Amino acid sequence: MIWTIFLLVQALLLYFILTHRSRSKSDPPLDKGVIPWLGHALEFGKDASKFLNRMKLKHGDIFTVRVAGRYVTVLLDPHSYDTVINDSDSLDFTRYAQVLMERIFNLRLPHHQPANAKEMMKKHFMGMNLTTLNSTMSRHLQASLKAEMPQNQKDWKEEGLFNLSYSLLFKAGYLSLFGGEQNNNSTDPSSVYKEYKKFDGLLTKMARGTLKPEEKRTAQSVRQRLWELLAPAGLIEEAGSSPWLHAYRRLLREEGADEETQKKAVLMQLWATQGNVGPAAFWLLGYLLTNPEALTAVKREFSVISPMGTSETSLLDRPVNTPVFDSVLEETLRLTAAPFITREVVQEKTLHMADGQQYLLRKGDRVCLFPFNSPQMDPEIHHEPQKYKYDRFLNEYGSVKRDFYKGGRRLKYYTMPWGAGTNGCVGQQFAINTIRQFVYMVLTNYHLELCDPNAQMPEANASRYGFGMLQPEGDLLVRYKPRNTH
Ligand code: HEM
Repeated sequence: MIWTIFLLVQALLLYFILTHRSRSKSDPPLDKGVIPWLGHALEFGKDASKFLNRMKLKHGDIFTVRVAGRYVTVLLDPHSYDTVINDSDSLDFTRYAQVLMERIFNLRLPHHQPANAKEMMKKHFMGMNLTTLNSTMSRHLQASLKAEMPQNQKDWKEEGLFNLSYSLLFKAGYLSLFGGEQNNNSTDPSSVYKEYKKFDGLLTKMARGTLKPEEKRTAQSVRQRLWELLAPAGLIEEAGSSPWLHAYRRLLREEGADEETQKKAVLMQLWATQGNVGPAAFWLLGYLLTNPEALTAVKREFSVISPMGTSETSLLDRPVNTPVFDSVLEETLRLTAAPFITREVVQEKTLHMADGQQYLLRKGDRVCLFPFNSPQMDPEIHHEPQKYKYDRFLNEYGSVKRDFYKGGRRLKYYTMPWGAGTNGCVGQQFAINTIRQFVYMVLTNYHLELCDPNAQMPEANASRYGFGMLQPEGDLLVRYKPRNTH
């Protein structure tokens, strides 16, 4: 007995010595929280935005917190963001991305060269190839809309707007990039969406490693099912998946990834390409429906572009100027895009803040920017930040507004939904085109209104802060019918 107690005390002592950390003069303020090892993990996971606001009030624009055994330095001054974004020598993007890849997708890529995959992605989602991709997407959007919201439907149909937007955009996106033509041999997009939604619902817990035993079993079986459904995607040209997916598969094979690993990598790409667009379209339409003035302004702009607008009209195959829609999208993303921009410190770095302060970042720690709290919801930058103002990003005479200030200085980053720098979003233009085309098609071809005219936008699910687009708690009930019926 005495030996057991002795060993236990020794072990605790050793743990304390190995994990003890105190703040030195050059470090940012350190807040370890009261729970050993876990630190602030629970509060961080429950509502990161609220927690980081509390820490900011206590410590200022930079501080280090302990989260599940790791030390994370959080930087909340947008004037200083470039010092993190532009230093890929000391601050590494891939290490933390690999941790998430393993936790969420059970994926470890052998001999992986992230730069190659990224170059290939750029080639297919930007520049010349984007035009082809846009028209493929437009075709699938039209087909999906006609299938889910038939033109011969006479009566109003009620549905949750989140489910409607996410499922439609997911299916069109899946067919454009992964699945080829509907009614072909490819996997039915509805069954992929059904499994994908279950997976998406467990994603944040997978990333944090907080699944309960029952959820762990569900996650494993859903993942397994999705791997099977995605197994044929991009394998043979005739299946009709996109040139990008063929090239990606080829790259994986060249890097030595076996069939099993390839399937897992394809699921990761499904999430990366489909996980944000549907939720973004939901928030955008939801804000329009709950703000009639904004809805009228967008409809007016669309009617000028295409006075005889029908679903056959595409905004994707020619350049069109839509400053009102662009402001509406920017405002929507300001309120609902909440990614963490996380880097791992691979060599000690002195961080020079815009206000002249300097702090040491320790090797092995992580650095995290959270643009949702600042600049996006920062009252010093955006007046009444909680309020939706569709014309926030328009000047008086309708041109794009780009000048926003903090501390008297003009900001480079006044919203940051797409990340920034070399690791910023590769699919940004494709996503913007898709959302605009979707909203255009819905508004020109359907009567769409709130079931309850006084309904408010649902709250965001606070556990999703840090994972890209937020998702609502519950849904917003809408009703629709085609415009050509009375
Ligand atoms: C509303 C829609 C979208 C939003 C808000 C969004 C947001 C983001 C953000 C914030 C990042 C950067 C993460 C970081 O710096 O750590 C990112 C990266 C990325 N996004 Fe998007 N995204 C969207 C849609 C898309 C689409 C449609 C695609 C592809 C077709 C895509 C492909 C990618 C890729 C490949 C990366 C990783 C870049 C890298 O490896 O450095 N995204 N996205």
